[in-house]
Amino acid sequence: MQITIIGTGYVGIVAAVCLAKLGHNVTAMDRESVIQSLQSNKAHVWEPGLQELLTECNEEGNLHFDADMASATANADALLIAVGTPTRADGHTDLSQIENVLEQLKQSGNCPPLVIVKSTVPVGTCDELEANLHGAGLRADVVFNPEFLRQGSAINDFMYPDRIVFGCQSRHSEIMLRQIYQGIDAPIQVCDRRSAELIKYASNTFLAMKISFANMMADLCEGYGADIRQVMKGVGTDRRIGPHFLQAGVGYGGSCFSKDLQSLLTSGKVIGRSLPLLEATAQINDQRIPQLVVKLISLWENPNGKRLGVLGISFKPNTNDVRDAPFLTLLKLCQHHRIDVHAYDPVVQQVAFEGVTVADSPYEMAAHSDAIILMTEWPQFVELDWVRMVQLMRQSILLDGRNVLSDEVVAQLMELDGVTYVPVGRPVEQSVEQRVY
Ligand SMILES: NC(=O)c1ccc[n+]([C@@H]2O[C@H](COP(=O)([O-])OP(=O)(O)OC[C@H]3O[C@@H](n4cnc5c(N)ncnc54)[C@H](O)[C@@H]3O)[C@@H](O)[C@H]2O)c1
Repeated sequence: MQITIIGTGYVGIVAAVCLAKLGHNVTAMDRESVIQSLQSNKAHVWEPGLQELLTECNEEGNLHFDADMASATANADALLIAVGTPTRADGHTDLSQIENVLEQLKQSGNCPPLVIVKSTVPVGTCDELEANLHGAGLRADVVFNPEFLRQGSAINDFMYPDRIVFGCQSRHSEIMLRQIYQGIDAPIQVCDRRSAELIKYASNTFLAMKISFANMMADLCEGYGADIRQVMKGVGTDRRIGPHFLQAGVGYGGSCFSKDLQSLLTSGKVIGRSLPLLEATAQINDQRIPQLVVKLISLWENPNGKRLGVLGISFKPNTNDVRDAPFLTLLKLCQHHRIDVHAYDPVVQQVAFEGVTVADSPYEMAAHSDAIILMTEWPQFVELDWVRMVQLMRQSILLDGRNVLSDEVVAQLMELDGVTYVPVGRPVEQSVEQRVY
């Protein structure tokens, strides 16, 4: 099938290479600068396996790039929209990128018979888009096909999803969608568009809620002297609950959870429904970094001029995405307290914001620091020579914001003079696991 994809960000480019890999003839469209990079076989976002698959598709010749709507959509059977849907300052979803796509489509006069919305959009948006296209004389079926991929494992998630959801109103569009996903072995749920739009929001906000729940329990563990790792292990082994998204830490970040939660809260207000569970989820998350900074400052006499090493800039491992990263909130608070921030990230080597020195190695970052916070659980951070790290520091204070250092490493560190290890949701003295037989 001829498929045109509009927007080649984290979702669009992954959909493009995966659909091309499935045998479709794909044209991906974005801004000129992005298209130039992709045409020269350079992935502009960092995602494991993406560059390799891009090269493979370029060699096969069934993936093309175009910055012009008219030529990108000529002869297309389906158009897939994967542009951004950020939150506006008033809490509503900013649909301007989608509206621009619609305008470009109308101007081009080419509208494929099937328009697949993959961008996350408020309930009712697809109904409006279809009415808008029909009003302009473009006879296209608009379907909502939510994307559930996780950055960091996006290609695997696209090719091996837990489920695929089609929010469509006609048998014909369902048949076309089934053809597009032929080759992917996953249960398919077909439902109306509005339910599909809500499935995406409900999924993301539920995951955010699990994280905030674990963080709320972590605070309780600190008060009671219990170990959050053990508590969540005991909770998560219940198959009705499951072990995922129950790791306590610095809270969730990234471009989706906060945005989608905010969007749903605002949508609820529009129809007069309050969503207190989601309000609490956001509140708990918003407190994670301020609480961490209070802990940090309590370990120093005066934060002014202290040097903090931060391990991890991206919002999660295996991505270079810094959108809504907890690191950014930490940076802002550190600047407020005049703390000098040095950071290291395996992939993010440069940052577009001021007030941070990005180090070339974790050891360079650790040197002369008065504390280190581990913000992102990159696997390579666990493998560092932690004895060397603390020996390079001016003051050996280590806040493990993701609870990832092994008990063995922590025990080794505790044998050294003057090391303070602060995990999440466990009293410090219990950071080395104490079993009671
Ligand atoms: N990132 C994720 O993990 C993820 C997962 C599931 C769903 N989503 C949803 O998917 C959508 C896209 O997310 P993303 O992270 O890929 O966003 P992104 O910001 O990384 O990418 C959007 C891309 O669209 C391009 N674009 C905007 N307007 C355009 C136009 N008129 N013509 C051509 N290109 C245009 C931008 O240049 C950009 O490259 C969002 O609605 C998001 O909520 C994201």
